[in-house]
Amino acid sequence: MVQRIGTPLTDKALRVMLLGSGELGKEVIIAMQRLGVEVIAVDRYAHAPGHQVAHRSHVIDMSDPALLQELVRRERPHIIIPEIEAIATDALAQIELEGLAEVIPTARAAQLTMNREGIRRLAAEQLSLPVSGYAFASSLAELQAVIDDRIGFPCFVKPVMSSSGKGQSQLLGPGDVAPAWDYALSGGRVNRGRVIVEAKIEFDYEITLLTVRGVAGSGEAETVFCDPIGHRQVAGDYVESWQPQPMSQTALARARDIAGSVTAALGGRGIFGVELFVKGDQVWFSEVSPRPHDTGMVTLISQRQNEFELHARAVLGLPVDTSMSVAAGASAVIYGGIDADAVCYHGVSAALGIPGTDLRLFGKPHSFIKRRMGVALAHGQDVPQARERACAAAACVRVATE
Ligand SMILES: Nc1ncnc2c1ncn2[C@@H]1O[C@H](COP(=O)(O)OP(=O)(O)OP(=O)(O)O)[C@@H](O)[C@H]1O
Ligand SMILES: [Mg+2]
Repeated sequence: MVQRIGTPLTDKALRVMLLGSGELGKEVIIAMQRLGVEVIAVDRYAHAPGHQVAHRSHVIDMSDPALLQELVRRERPHIIIPEIEAIATDALAQIELEGLAEVIPTARAAQLTMNREGIRRLAAEQLSLPVSGYAFASSLAELQAVIDDRIGFPCFVKPVMSSSGKGQSQLLGPGDVAPAWDYALSGGRVNRGRVIVEAKIEFDYEITLLTVRGVAGSGEAETVFCDPIGHRQVAGDYVESWQPQPMSQTALARARDIAGSVTAALGGRGIFGVELFVKGDQVWFSEVSPRPHDTGMVTLISQRQNEFELHARAVLGLPVDTSMSVAAGASAVIYGGIDADAVCYHGVSAALGIPGTDLRLFGKPHSFIKRRMGVALAHGQDVPQARERACAAAACVRVATE
């Protein structure tokens, strides 16, 4: 349904609530603000990046269904946009059922994708998409058995509920199984004691295919794709991304087929980050975020409409343009590097002195060694040049206590 945009802070406002207000939510909020939408930002801690640019902000534990319901009844958003996975998705389903608000893309999509088991079974068993060998286990003995019988080494063990590589390990041999089980239990979001084990895919490269489900100018539903984004992961966390990732025509067509299929099965409107592994012309589905993707921050410099603007437009039922605006773009993550509050950023001028670069500093109140505090962006005449510039700019920025 296409929403009417009214005047923020009046009874005609179109109200959108972001559940999760980190660096990705912040950019969605800015995109919504630019379209005259009233935005309510929610996160589990005060002064989250998105809180700093919203009309109102709240701090609650979003995994608590009662608190979530209460806040939605109080704020009466028309649209709820989950930005993170760790949300009481049953409460979202109830909110959607009662017609209190529209959940993006749907409450069911949020439910399925927050649990690796839900999305893996949908992709592999219902949609027959190519995926790595996989099995689930709920005890160390069961994990050992499925690896011995079916999966083999090398493989990955991941908690069914986790993100950003938390609790995830790569196993090379039998000696790695018990430590991987213990690590998964410690890193899972909800300690359910359930893991997925996946055979390792020896891919040439991995991509995020940003896929937009929206409404065309004609009013018809449409699915459109951004150019593929290549990325480099260290310990399950993205450190660098670039666009476009060169691909064979066959691999690109397969990637689009897979992305079209999985996003159609999830339904609703908005952007999805479909993660795929590629080897030659072969493509495997890995996982999907029903929201902007961290590797898609490169689009802040590489596309006419970045992934956050595309999300905002698709959510509002407005036309989108997924084309790139430069020959090549890249992003490089800036980590905190220190554990400290209220940090200062040095080297910003040097970073921005590199041709073709830009920066986003997220304004997070606390820095951790492995916390993403900002991102360097660059465009260039080709991907190597854009990557080189983005990495050089990121390296200029130093996070310090003074
Ligand atoms: N089966 C696999 N074969 C090869 N590499 C894998 C496999 N599973 C995971 N990886 C590697 O680990 C990375 C992180 O895995 P995955 O995306 O499942 O974790 P995540 O915790 O959901 O991370 P994020 O939230 O950052 O997307 C992948 O991008 C890939 O580089
Ligand atoms: Mg991933």
